[in-house]
Amino acid sequence: LLSARAGDATQRLKDAVLRVLPMGLPYSLFARPLLRFTDSERAHSLAMRSLASFGQSRVGQRALSAIYHAPELPIHVFGRLFHHPLGLAAGFDKGAEALSAWPALGFSWIEYGGITRFPQEGNPKPRMFRAHSERALVNRMGFNNPGAVAVRDRLIDRRASGMWPKVPVAANIGRSRKTPNESAPSDYSSTLEMLWNQADMFVLNVSSPNTPGLRELQEVDHLSSILAECKMMSDRKGGGKPLLLKLSPDNSDDEIIASAQMAMRMDIDGFVATNTTLHRPVPKNAASRSVFAEGGGLSGRPLQARSNEVIRLLYEEAGSAVPIVGVGGIDSVDTAWQAVASGASLLQLYSALVFNGPSVVSGIVKGLGRKVKENGFLGIEEAVGLDIT
Ligand code: FNR
Repeated sequence: LLSARAGDATQRLKDAVLRVLPMGLPYSLFARPLLRFTDSERAHSLAMRSLASFGQSRVGQRALSAIYHAPELPIHVFGRLFHHPLGLAAGFDKGAEALSAWPALGFSWIEYGGITRFPQEGNPKPRMFRAHSERALVNRMGFNNPGAVAVRDRLIDRRASGMWPKVPVAANIGRSRKTPNESAPSDYSSTLEMLWNQADMFVLNVSSPNTPGLRELQEVDHLSSILAECKMMSDRKGGGKPLLLKLSPDNSDDEIIASAQMAMRMDIDGFVATNTTLHRPVPKNAASRSVFAEGGGLSGRPLQARSNEVIRLLYEEAGSAVPIVGVGGIDSVDTAWQAVASGASLLQLYSALVFNGPSVVSGIVKGLGRKVKENGFLGIEEAVGLDIT
């Protein structure tokens, strides 16, 4: 009992320190060592809580911006100006609770969600694990989110209070767990309808490994019905907001090409490559072995090579006609540049934020700017697809 109490007290102390730790303190000195010993989802909720409070105030935003501000490296995609290509990947701000904090941390755009038509608890905890040696995460969250109605209402309030971020915002839409695949088209399109005024673009997520049967929706028959119904909804709403399709890295190249071709026939506006993988690398030690034995999708460094292949594959198929968002293991200037050179116009990251802290964003953007100059380009646009002949 005593040791359990001592454990509780230690946990409370860690939580308290993490809670008062402004994200601005040198992350590697203070936060990372503490996060290392804190349960992954707990660390994530604490980070979200401090961002949702500290990051929403103007003072907080100014403080974060002073430390994490990223330079300009503008690119026009989807008819919009992005201050630079790097945004926050889906899954971090699932409930769209800290939208104002992300630009202050240097991100040029935000994808919130995944949001489902109905509220969901997600899978039982623990459901998020860190493999430090590989800089990888394994998660089986299962679309825990307050549901489309609650998120819509939250965002209506945010807009009314003048707290809407000044950067492009995307909503990630998933299929509700209780909805069978046959009814997926109306499940996606209802969420799209509800969130229509609460995002500038929408990502149809048919590639999360944590909702049974979801990835089957990448097959052409399912895909064509989902896209047709979402396009119809978009038209009914007056259009003008890009619909993107997020793909899995685990499908074969042929399957990916088939999905992409079908999506292009249905006039898809963009691709997001990729979601997490069910594959596991060889673990470097016992701690990683136990993390990799957990069920769920793996993200972070070991995903980078395959995500990059998928970006290439899509760019070879679509060229510059359908912009690609590159995501998966981007954690350095080189991995970001590789994604751009393989065909990505925009980039996102999640895992690198966990392992490297927020300064990873400005570090990558500065490095991309240097590379643009070294190559004698006028802007980052000229580097998109550079490696594809
Ligand atoms: C995710 N990701 C994700 N993707 C998505 O389309 N909808 C979602 O709800 C989620 N949720 C989610 C939760 C957690 C805990 C993680 C780690 C990831 C996938 C994410 O957006 C991204 O595609 C992958 O994480 C790969 O990028 P990184 O992490 O390697 O930069």
